[in-house]
Amino acid sequence: MKEQHVALKTLNTFGIEVFANELYTFHNVDELISILKEIKDTPNLILGGGSNILFTKNCDVPLLLNRIKGISIDFEDENSITLKVGAGEVWHELVLYCIENNYAGLENLSLIPGRVGASPMQNIGAYGVEVKDLIVKVEAIDKKSLQLIYFTNSECEFAYRESVFKRKYKDKFVITHVYFKLSKNPKINTSYGAIEAELQKNGITQPTIKDVSNAVINIRQSKLPDPNIIGNAGSFFKNPTITIDLLQKIIINYPDIPHFKLEAETYKIPAGWLIENAGWKGKTYDCYGVHKNQALVLVNYGGATGKQIIDLSQAIIDDIKDKFSIELEREVNVF
Ligand code: EPU
Repeated sequence: MKEQHVALKTLNTFGIEVFANELYTFHNVDELISILKEIKDTPNLILGGGSNILFTKNCDVPLLLNRIKGISIDFEDENSITLKVGAGEVWHELVLYCIENNYAGLENLSLIPGRVGASPMQNIGAYGVEVKDLIVKVEAIDKKSLQLIYFTNSECEFAYRESVFKRKYKDKFVITHVYFKLSKNPKINTSYGAIEAELQKNGITQPTIKDVSNAVINIRQSKLPDPNIIGNAGSFFKNPTITIDLLQKIIINYPDIPHFKLEAETYKIPAGWLIENAGWKGKTYDCYGVHKNQALVLVNYGGATGKQIIDLSQAIIDDIKDKFSIELEREVNVF
């Protein structure tokens, strides 16, 4: 289906008021192939849930909206089940489907906005789990050859909020289905402190995957703004990795800086802590600003432009560089 001059406000969770010259919606692989044939080699943009994009201008290239649905069983044995899921399925609806059927693995990733196709793209993660731990393979269409290609887990080259689809093969493939291997014998993961505390608060000692999901939902709702109410795209920045030398220098002035050891004498630092300690948390400019409960999230209270948000993010990047000698990297895709 092709539409012209389409308002994108409700198709991006930041709620930025821009337009697409041409919007094509596809519901299956054949429709996608016909659209790709029609637009030939014209550069284009694929949109799923619009929850990790900041539009700074109207979309002047064909915009392709992925609405491939369907959840089916690809493989099943006593201990596990592999689901083939359409890239246009709403992420949280998939999580709820799994919980209802007692398929474990995705519960820590409850309530993440967006659609299934974006999950391998940026290796979504939260509360101690990354989706790379559950993905078996990814089906995608090569935009040029129109061939259906399968990427195994290792071929996706997953890393923290990274994959081949975001780097090496950026704009080269359209993800059409994702295969998730889930467990029928739940291994509950409450290693992330906040989950344990939330369960204890509710007196739960033997949590089910539904309990874990509810705990995650409560934590998210207390910290993160609901994009249906306040425009945002979740974490705007990635958590940076720094060397032990730099950490030791920062600790002199900031002995409380949280830091998590990675391999090779490097440490992950919560960007939210840096932004808060640089004084940005809760800052508001007319209709946009930094969220009051989680400094990693930039928000649009209604009517902000993408340019205003990007300028704010740049001011934060410059200030953090100045104060901590750390270069923050944006997590959100900018168009
Ligand atoms: N912190 C602050 N101030 C803040 C925010 C955080 O000091 O305003 C510090 C605190 O020390 C806190 C620590 O940062 O203990 C970690 O905070 P939180 O648990 O909120 O997690 P995060 O590192 O800020 C990451 C993900 C989130 C994910 C949470 C939970 C990234 C870029 N973000 O945030 O993902 O929900 O962990 O696992 O890795 C997203 O990607 O859109 C997203 C929301």
